Amino acid sequence: MKLKHLAMSAAVAAATWGTAGLVLGDDGGGEVSPIYGVKLPEGYRQWALIAPAQEATPLNELRAVVGNGLAMKAYQDSTLPFPDGTVLVKLAWKHVQSPEFEPASIPGAATTVQVMVKDSQRYASTGGWGFGRFINGKPADEAQHQTCFACHQARVQNHDWVFTRFAP
Ligand code: HEC
Repeated sequence: MKLKHLAMSAAVAAATWGTAGLVLGDDGGGEVSPIYGVKLPEGYRQWALIAPAQEATPLNELRAVVGNGLAMKAYQDSTLPFPDGTVLVKLAWKHVQSPEFEPASIPGAATTVQVMVKDSQRYASTGGWGFGRFINGKPADEAQHQTCFACHQARVQNHDWVFTRFAP
């Protein structure tokens, strides 16, 4: 009984800490991305879906973009720019054919997890966004992080440098 209680408070603490800490990516666990110092946010796998996406070859991936509570609220209210504390995460997998039903596509091996954290002061020079790309939970190298903002900046200036629109 006591143990169960303890485990429960730990879970609650983790959840609370997760949401508060991940804003600046400083929740104490995991390695940070070069340049931006962004971490994989706690609990992102339980976040709400914003939209799926598919990437053609050579990458040939299925993707899902999810957001924290602030992100979902901003999408719901069509708030732009996204407020500080918004976190967007893009999960990606190899696109494979279902072995059970040919016309169906399913996720294969996980490839990258990418993160964008909004902090308009800290990341003022990159549209207010800090970027992180993780492979097996480890941040990718600095060269890869130099590419992030340039592509987002060139193509989605009119949407706070965010590609993904909410899929109803
Ligand atoms: C050559 C263009 C390009 C580069 C470089 C790029 N992205 Fe993106 N990014 C996209 C596109 C296009 C999407 C929309 C979803 C999709 O098609 O996968 C996206 C989506 C995202 C999203 C979901 C939010 C959104 O804007 O839709 C995150 C998070 C993200 N990228 C992070 C990164 C990080 C981190 C890097 C650098 C390591 C990076 N991106 C580099 C093109 C790019």
